Amino acid sequence: MRFRSRLLVDLNQLANNHQLIQELIPNKEILFMVKADGYGHGMIPIVRFAALELGIKQFGCATLGEALTLREELPDLDTEIYVFSDVQVELKDCTDFYLHRRIIPVLSNFHDLEFILDHKDFRHFPLCLKFNTGMNRLGLDYESSEQVITKILKSGRREIFHLMTHYASSSKSMEEDAQNLLQKSRFENLIKEIQAAGIKITATSTANTGAISQQSGTLDTHLRPGLMMYGPTSLAPELRPQSLWRGKLISQLETYIIKVFPIKKGECIGYGATQVQSDGVIAIIALGYGDGFSTRFMGARLNHQGHEGVVTGRVNMDMAHVHFPMSALKDLKVGDKFIVWGHDPGPFYRLSEETKTLTYELFCQLTSRVPRVHRTSP
Ligand SMILES: Cc1ncc(COP(=O)(O)O)c(C=O)c1O
Repeated sequence: MRFRSRLLVDLNQLANNHQLIQELIPNKEILFMVKADGYGHGMIPIVRFAALELGIKQFGCATLGEALTLREELPDLDTEIYVFSDVQVELKDCTDFYLHRRIIPVLSNFHDLEFILDHKDFRHFPLCLKFNTGMNRLGLDYESSEQVITKILKSGRREIFHLMTHYASSSKSMEEDAQNLLQKSRFENLIKEIQAAGIKITATSTANTGAISQQSGTLDTHLRPGLMMYGPTSLAPELRPQSLWRGKLISQLETYIIKVFPIKKGECIGYGATQVQSDGVIAIIALGYGDGFSTRFMGARLNHQGHEGVVTGRVNMDMAHVHFPMSALKDLKVGDKFIVWGHDPGPFYRLSEETKTLTYELFCQLTSRVPRVHRTSP
C-alpha cells in the first residue's frame, strides 16, 4: 500500500541533535523526554535508536501507560524510565509496576512521597523528587522543604536519587528573566538545605530545551531535553537569532498534490464557498484535519519548489487547498510530493507562528492516519 502522506523521521538527524546538545553542555547525562509518542514522532523506534545507537540510558514519559508500553515493546533495553505526571503510585497495580518493571515515579506531591516512604516494599526504591520552585503546576512545594526533609530523615533514608525542578519560562532569558532567576536561586537553596540536613543528592536536573539552548544547566548532572532532540528550540522568536542552538528537525511532513486547477479572483472554493482574492492556481493536497492539518492552518504560507502558496478556504477532513500565484502553474503537478515542513527549522517556526500553534503541538497533533516512517540512511 502506498501512503499519500507521511512523517519521515530521519534518525541520523536525531543523532546530530544529540551530539549538538553534548557540544553545547558537555559531560551531562541525558534524560530524553519521549512522552506523547516521542512528541508525535513514534516513541518506540525513537527510544530503540536513542538507547542502542546513542547510548541514552534515561527516558521520560508523562504517564505510567507510556512507560509500560516502552517496557513491553523494548523489554531488553537497559534503561531507566521516569514517569513525570500521571504517576498513580497508590493504585495496587501501579505499585506493582513500579516495583517490578524498573519504572521510577517522579514524586511531585507530599502525599505520594509519604506513600513511598511508608511502604516497606519501596524501602530500597530510588527517590526521585520534583520541586515546584515557581512554575505552580506539579511539584513538592518549595516552601515545604523542611517538612520533606524531616519526613525523609524519619524514614531512615539519607539519599535522594534525583532532584528536579522545571522552569516556567525557559523560552525567555535564563540570565535576565526574573522568574527564571527566582527559580534558579530557589533550586540552589534547596540543594544546600537538603545537603545540610545530611541527605546526599545523587543527581539533579533542571534544564529543558529553552534552558539548554542558552547553556543553562551546567551545575546539574542531567539535562532533560524534549523538543530540541526533535529539532526546534522553544526560545521566544526574539531570542532565536542569538541562540546557540543549531539543531534541525528530524522529521519531514510530506503529502501529495491530488488536483491542480487555475482559479479567478472572486471564484469560490470548497466548503463554505470561500471566494479567492486573486487569480492563481489551486493545488489540493492530501492532508486535512483528520491528519492533524488543522483548520488553524487556514491562511498559513507553504512553499513548493520556490513558490509561495497560502492555505485558502476551509481545511477539510482529508484535504486542503493551497492558492499559488499563476507563475507556479508549471511547477505544480498532480502526483508531486508536497512538503509541509522539512528539516530546516525556519519555515517550521513560521508555520507555528502563522497557525498560532505551538511547535510542540504541530508535532503532537498529527494523527495516526499519518504513518511515521523511520530511516537511518543518508
Ligand atoms: C518535567 C519536564 N522536563 C523536561 C521537559 C522537556 O521540555 P522541552 O520539550 O521543552 O525540552 C518537559 C516537557 O514538557 C517536562 O515536563
